[in-house]
Formats: sequence, structure tokens, C-alpha cells
Amino acid sequence: MSAQYDHIAQGYRQTKDSPVRTHIEAYTFMRLVGDLNGCRVLDLACGEGFYSRRIREAGAVHVTAVDISAEMIALAQATEARDPLGIQYICADVAKLGLDDQYNLVSAAYLLHYADDEAALQSMCDSIAASLLPGGRFVALNENPEQPEQDYAGYTQYGFNKKYDLPRRNGSRIEYSMIAGRQLIRFDAHYFTRDTYETALQRAGFNDVQWKSLELSPAGVAEFGEAYWQAYLSNPPIVGLEARL
Ligand SMILES: C[S@@+](CC[C@H](N)C(=O)[O-])C[C@H]1O[C@@H](n2cnc3c(N)ncnc32)[C@H](O)[C@@H]1O
Repeated sequence: MSAQYDHIAQGYRQTKDSPVRTHIEAYTFMRLVGDLNGCRVLDLACGEGFYSRRIREAGAVHVTAVDISAEMIALAQATEARDPLGIQYICADVAKLGLDDQYNLVSAAYLLHYADDEAALQSMCDSIAASLLPGGRFVALNENPEQPEQDYAGYTQYGFNKKYDLPRRNGSRIEYSMIAGRQLIRFDAHYFTRDTYETALQRAGFNDVQWKSLELSPAGVAEFGEAYWQAYLSNPPIVGLEARL
């Protein structure tokens, strides 16, 4: 698997400041993560450590974080060196992960739709299950597999766009473009049906798989007003996911 994020690591980090990231993405994800007291957490597809750091700061006793991109991990380690939180960063492909340790929680903000095909998706889900202690939880943000395939071009006001290759089927390409400061960055992911995700998670050993709606922070409503969020929330490009072993 190529580490496409090596070429856009700095740019991707700049996109994390947008209102939609703050008031919907991060708000939804950290509520899904929930109470971290005493938790050992494995944060997959950690990128430059945006959520790894928040998870540690929110009370996790230990965070290990994994990303396939050496550049993303280098950014994460540079931040760790400047502002140490004791997070262990590892450069690895989640589909081939062989960690010795197990965790109470595995988190992944945008991982599963980077699988190239169903076999890679299954390997990712198997790695996640193998990394969890009995009764452990997996929480994720993912591209929304229930989104109408034709209706993708309405997010410019939020700083990005998303385009499905048609016909849409398991493994077909999703092309993203995002404004990052003064540049436009592009990257690809892959579409899988909701059933395909659920089957892969169930085969890996998860018996309770739930899709979670996005949540908008009260601060986001106060700052931008309800109308600003309408186009995004009426056709959500991402969705939450929670699964238990
Ligand atoms: C959209 S970024 C999200 C980064 C971070 N979770 C965040 O929200 O800021 C997706 C990340 O997934 C990583 N990634 C993609 N495929 C991966 C794989 N097979 N194993 C580990 N990381 C992967 C990419 O390198 C990239 O950093």
C-alpha cells in the first residue's frame, strides 16, 4: 500500500483547523471515544497525532499510535519531542499489524476506507480485533457508505470535496480534494458498502456494530448559526462507527 499522505502531510495538518473539523468531526469523534479514565488506547491511522494527543489529554493512561505514512509519523514525533505526552508512534500498515500489546479502546479517525480492496479491509478489521482486550471497543470515523452516489459536490463552502468513481462498488475510488492554506491537496480512498464493513467487522469477531450519526457542537451553532451546517448535515460525507468484541 502506498503512503500517499507522505506528499501531503503538512497540508493535511493545516486542514484540521476548519470549522467542520472542529465542530462536527472532532466533537463527534471525542464523544464516541467517551470516558478514557484508566484506558489504554491504540489510535490507528493517527496521521500527525491530532486525535492521539487529544485522547491522551482526555485521560487515557497510555496511547500507542500507528500510521502507514513515515512523513505523518515524523510530524507526530516532532510534536511529541516539543510537547511530550508519552505517546508511542509507530509507522506500520494496519492491515499487517502485529503488535504484542492489547488495548481497552482502538480508535481510528479515517482508516477503513483506505483499504484497497475487501481482503485488505478484512485484514484491517482482524488487526483491530486482535489489538483489543476482551470486551474492548473500536470507535471510528469513516466515509459514509450510505451517501447517495451522485450527490457529492456540495461541500466547497466547508473547504473540501468528495467524488465517487462510478459505477460505485466495493474498492472503487473516492477522490478527495481539500483546501490546505493556499494550496489544494488531493488524496484517494475506496468505497465499500455498509454490509461489506459490517461483514468484515463481524468476521473479525465484533458482535455489536453500530453506525453513529454526526453531532454538531453547541459552540458551532452559536458561532456560525444553524443554516451554515445544513448542507453538510443533510448529506453527511462521514459517519461514526462503534463496535464491541
Ligand atoms: C485522513 S488521514 C487521518 C489522520 C488522523 N486520524 C486525523 O484525523 O487527523 C488518514 C490517515 O490514514 C493513514 N493510513 C492510510 N492507510 C493506512 C494503513 N493501511 N495503515 C495505517 N495508516 C494508514 C494515512 O497515512 C493518513 O495519515
